[in-house]
Amino acid sequence: MSDDLKRKAAEAAMSEVKSGMRIGLGTGSTAKHFVDLLGAEVAKGFQCLCVPTSEATAAQARGLGIPLTTLDDIDSLDVTVDGADEIDRDFQLIKGGGGALLREKIVAAASARMIVIADDSKLVESLGRFALPIEVNPFGLAATERAIAGVMAEFGALGGKAVRQGEGAEPYLTDGGHYIVDASFGRISNAKALSLALLEIPGVVQHGLFIDLCSEAYLATPKGTIKLSE
Ligand code: A5P
Repeated sequence: MSDDLKRKAAEAAMSEVKSGMRIGLGTGSTAKHFVDLLGAEVAKGFQCLCVPTSEATAAQARGLGIPLTTLDDIDSLDVTVDGADEIDRDFQLIKGGGGALLREKIVAAASARMIVIADDSKLVESLGRFALPIEVNPFGLAATERAIAGVMAEFGALGGKAVRQGEGAEPYLTDGGHYIVDASFGRISNAKALSLALLEIPGVVQHGLFIDLCSEAYLATPKGTIKLSE
């Protein structure tokens, strides 16, 4: 996805934020553009209170003078704007390629609306082209990976193995101090059932399937940006 298209999607989503709103700030290279654009508006007097979904986004927002708060200090957010790795026609998502899925999901769930910004290459007929990131507790990693392999077999990815991000090198650690393992399921035909099966594994903290959290998306194409909504 060209950086120009990412910026275009972020620009389009700016039309959704109004002064006085409480806004969830996503993570990733597309969300970064949105935070930049919001920062430029804040510098001109735009009022908002924002919750970042990662330390990286928090640092960016602080640098731009965007007022930040936490979900301990406010009850809910008006809107969250975030990127995605995949989005299907039912607004189900795979997120977490950048490793921020846990905070992203907590913030999205606390928001009245979640708007995805992406280029149209992220729009898929069915989820699963992208490996599903799964956030796991480091304790008992091998046992958790075996359990994930069991779920992979159950959902048609027979012989599949969860691969830890940073395997063979320094393990990638999330902001919450967890590992991310990637699991390639191929076509995911029942995202809800898969979600529940993964969450039943004790070592799984959360996974990148976002179900019933998003209902709007701005998708940038070389011919212009389109809005999809339920
Ligand atoms: C971060 O953990 C992810 O959920 C990102 O939002 C997602 O990977 C999209 O990232 P890009 O905008 O960089 O493609």
